[in-house]
Amino acid sequence: MNAPAPRTGHAEGFRELVNSRRAVRRFTAEVVPDDVIRQCLELAMLAPSSCNLQPWSFQVVRDPAVLQRLHRVCLGQSAAKAPLIITVLARTGTWDQACRDVLRFWPAPSVPEAIERFYTNTAPFQYNQGWMGWRGFFKRQWVRLAGLGRAVMRTPNSQEQMRLWAVKSTALAAQNLMLAFQSHGYSTCPMEGFDEKRLKRVLPIPRDANAIMLLAVGMPGERAVYNPRLRFPLEQSVSWH
Ligand SMILES: Cc1cc2nc3c(=O)[nH]c(=O)nc-3n(C[C@H](O)[C@H](O)[C@H](O)COP(=O)(O)O)c2cc1C
Repeated sequence: MNAPAPRTGHAEGFRELVNSRRAVRRFTAEVVPDDVIRQCLELAMLAPSSCNLQPWSFQVVRDPAVLQRLHRVCLGQSAAKAPLIITVLARTGTWDQACRDVLRFWPAPSVPEAIERFYTNTAPFQYNQGWMGWRGFFKRQWVRLAGLGRAVMRTPNSQEQMRLWAVKSTALAAQNLMLAFQSHGYSTCPMEGFDEKRLKRVLPIPRDANAIMLLAVGMPGERAVYNPRLRFPLEQSVSWH
């Protein structure tokens, strides 16, 4: 398949969109319409993901009673007084269903053989860490040996590496989500200032899920942004080779 034709002429618009996003800590009570939420989630899910296994899930909270409880879970911080909070979950346990789903939802009448092989053999080998990580343990030894003479895929071979694996792709989806809301005129604040344990008492967080952030969304209120934007100089973070 050919790649879609490159879209030119959007650089300035994209720059403006990215530039205009700020972490907003005060929201009005204005409700975010469901169709906007849905459109933004669709764009979030267009994020790239490792092996296209899409290890994210989202919980959309609009119920005022639940939001009130979440405000306490978020340590009472002001950003959490938003009319909409979306929990962004990185899942380490959905890869096997996802392998089956890739084949199930394959967007063509038949699944190419190489794809079928990859999602029935290679990917399960890569992501199955076994009960209590025993497979991962053996894979780590194998990787050490096989990697002596050639480049090998060294991770994820433990539950902890699976967590990182899932978080990487999910964080990309979270950024898409923030920019999507921004493009609809809504502001956001990503929050990791929350009590994970108490979150589980409020929402049905699956056992394999890592709540990487709670995203507050709404219309910006008065003095919504606390500080001027600050970023370190580019040279400090970038090296060229
Ligand atoms: C993973 C993550 C967690 C964050 N957690 C919080 C939070 O709990 N509360 C908050 O007010 N801001 C939070 N922020 C927002 C950052 O403080 C903010 O993005 C940063 O200060 C830069 O400001 P800017 O986004 O307006 O450019 C978080 C941002 C990220 C990416």
